[in-house]
Amino acid sequence: MAVADTGEPLYDVSRSFEDNYAHGPFGEFARPCYDPHDGSDAGRRADGPTFLGEPVGVPFGIPAGPLLNSRFTTAAFRRGYDIAVYKTVRSRAWPCNPFPNVVSVHPRSDDGQLDPRGDEPDEGVLADTRFSDPISISNSFGVPSRDPDVWQPDMRDAMAAAGPGQLLLPSFQGSRVPGMDVHDYVADHVRTARLVCETGARMMEMNTSCPNEGRNRLLCHDPKLVGDIAQAVKDEIGDRPLLVKLGFLADDAMLDEIVGRTAARGLAQGFSVINTISARLVDSRGRQALPGQGRERSGVCGAAIRAAGQDMVRRLAAIRRRRGVDFVIVGVGGVTTARDYREYRRLGADAVMSATGAMWDPDLAMSVRALAD
Ligand SMILES: Cc1cc2nc3c(=O)[nH]c(=O)nc-3n(C[C@H](O)[C@H](O)[C@H](O)COP(=O)(O)O)c2cc1C
Repeated sequence: MAVADTGEPLYDVSRSFEDNYAHGPFGEFARPCYDPHDGSDAGRRADGPTFLGEPVGVPFGIPAGPLLNSRFTTAAFRRGYDIAVYKTVRSRAWPCNPFPNVVSVHPRSDDGQLDPRGDEPDEGVLADTRFSDPISISNSFGVPSRDPDVWQPDMRDAMAAAGPGQLLLPSFQGSRVPGMDVHDYVADHVRTARLVCETGARMMEMNTSCPNEGRNRLLCHDPKLVGDIAQAVKDEIGDRPLLVKLGFLADDAMLDEIVGRTAARGLAQGFSVINTISARLVDSRGRQALPGQGRERSGVCGAAIRAAGQDMVRRLAAIRRRRGVDFVIVGVGGVTTARDYREYRRLGADAVMSATGAMWDPDLAMSVRALAD
C-alpha cells in the first residue's frame, strides 16, 4: 500500500490488525524521545494541570484506538504523550473486521472538512490508498478485543509504565450479542467496568459511539439508555471518575439531555468528543470501497473531522456554562498540529487527543509540549 508524502505510521495499515498487535508500534514512534523522569518539566508539574484529579504534565494524549496494547501505550508515554488511552476492551474476546481496516479518505469540499450535517456522508466519500497530508482516514475494525485474561494483565503493565505526570486511561464498551435484552446489555457494561477496576484503574472511559457497529446502533443516540448504563456502571465503580465518549450529535437538545442524565447527576465526570463520523465510502467509480457485507459505511477520522469535533466542544462547553455543572471535556477529532491543540483548549477542552494525527506524525506530542500553555 503506497504511503505518499507521509512517514511510516505507528500502525502499519498494510498489515493485519493481528500483525500490528503482535509486532507494533512501527516507525519513529517506537523510538523513545522523551523521559518523564527527567526533572526538566518538574517545575511546570508542581502546580501544573490536573486531569480528573490526577497531575498531568501536558493534557495531551492519544484517544482510544491506535494504542492496541501496553507496548503501544508505553511507546506513547516515551514519545511525550501524557495521556494514553488503552484501546477499548470488552467483556469477552471479539474478532476484528476483515482486512483492510484502514483506508485514506478525500472529502470533496474545498476545506477538506466532512460536514456531518451535510449530504456527503450519505452520498459517498472517496476512499482509496493514497495516504497524504492533511491525513484523513476511515478505520473499520469493529472494536476487536482480547479476552479479559489477556487484556487485564496487559493493562496493568500499561499503567505501570506511566511516568510522573502521565496517565493511562482504559477505554471499555458493552457488547451486543444476539439474544441479549437491554438488561443484559446494561449488565455487560457493568461487568466490563468491573474487569477494568480489577486492573487497578483509577478512572475509565466508556465508549458509546462506535459507528463501525452499524449505522443506527450508536448508543449515544439514546440518552435515556446512556443514563441508565452510566448509573449502573457508576454503582459498580464508585468514586472512580467515568468519562463518556460520544459521537457527533447534531441536536443540542440530545446533547443537553445526555449531560442532564449523566454529568448533572454525578454519574459521569466528563465527555470525550468526538468519535469518528459515519460515512458511505466509495471508490473512484462510486462502488463500495471496503469489501464485505455491512461495510458500506465506516467511520471517518483525521483532519476532515476537525471542524465537527471543535463544534461539539464549543456546544458542550456552552451547556456546561449554562447548567453550571462541573465536568471535563476531552477534545478529539482532526488534531494534526500544535495549533489544533491550542484551538481545542481555547474552545473549552480540558484535555485534547489525537488519533489519526498521532499515527502519522511521530513528533506531534513534542510539538504540542513546545507550544503548550
Ligand atoms: C485506528 C483507530 C482505531 C479506533 N478505535 C477506537 C476504539 O476502539 N474506541 C473508541 O472509542 N474510538 C476509537 N477510535 C476513534 C478515536 O478515538 C477518535 O475518536 C477518532 O479517531 C477521532 O480522532 P482523530 O480525528 O484524531 O482520529 C479509533 C480511531 C482510529 C484512528
